[in-house]
Amino acid sequence: MDKITIIGAGNVGAHAAVSAATLELGHIILLDKDADLAKGKAIDITQSMAVSHSDIVVTGTGDYQDTADSDVVIITAGIPRKPGMSRDDLLDINADILTSIVKQVVQYSPECILIIVTNPITTMVQLAYEVSGFSRERVIGMAGILDGARFKRFIAEELKVGSSEVMTMVIGDHGELMVPLKDHCHVNGQPIAELLSHEQIEAIVVKVQHGGSQIVNLLKTGSAYFAPGLAVIQMVKSILRNEQKTLPCAVYLDGEYSTKGLFVGVPVVLGRQGVEKIVEIHLSEKEALAFKNSVRHIKERTEALLHKKLGS
Ligand code: LAC
Repeated sequence: MDKITIIGAGNVGAHAAVSAATLELGHIILLDKDADLAKGKAIDITQSMAVSHSDIVVTGTGDYQDTADSDVVIITAGIPRKPGMSRDDLLDINADILTSIVKQVVQYSPECILIIVTNPITTMVQLAYEVSGFSRERVIGMAGILDGARFKRFIAEELKVGSSEVMTMVIGDHGELMVPLKDHCHVNGQPIAELLSHEQIEAIVVKVQHGGSQIVNLLKTGSAYFAPGLAVIQMVKSILRNEQKTLPCAVYLDGEYSTKGLFVGVPVVLGRQGVEKIVEIHLSEKEALAFKNSVRHIKERTEALLHKKLGS
């Protein structure tokens, strides 16, 4: 049976555990520095599995030894945003939390595939890559699936269709400079430009870019967790079941999309080896410009952080 470790038993980690358990993806370890929090939630989730006649067990712990030989490790730990904060405001504190976690994960699961959910994701995943020393196929950031789902919902609400009728792709950073690919978005094969006005499409793009903040402002004490928790498990499912799905994820670009040495959100094929292919889609002129801008922002933030934390 596959072993999935989730680090951080906060809302995102716990919902990722519920989603993985519901899909019966493997034995799940939920680890938190507050071991009792992890144990309490793990017992509750395992009992919920018994309600639905599933044998899946979630084990709560505060001890990294229990994570040994995991196939996939998801890191959700870190502080979330409060109203008025951007994801970039979390940089310094989450970088220190992540560095210490990655070192312990690598010690016990040197062969695992590492998935980072901690914000700001594109920079945190690069830090995890540098600290872990893993190959680029085995270090992946979540985000595009979540942003793409928000894009789907806003289009679906505007057109009064089901979300499953809408195809979206969001690339670049996971922040206000993310790039919802409006020229690639379609509803049952029909481009959205044929269904919505330019103004309507632009308003939706802005809503997608602020989709996380909308929820932060309503919750007041933290950020979204149902959709992020499920989104990361879609990645785990494609990896462990070798589904080879094409999903937007933050991955290390080595020349693809004219970008080198940087983690950026783009569509990739996920299978048992991790990132099995980077899919290069042709961007329209406007999309390419927005992507370049997004990459510039990630690069500035990431280089400053790596310089400060690793001296590189
Ligand atoms: C959001 C957080 C997870 O977008 O970044 O809701």
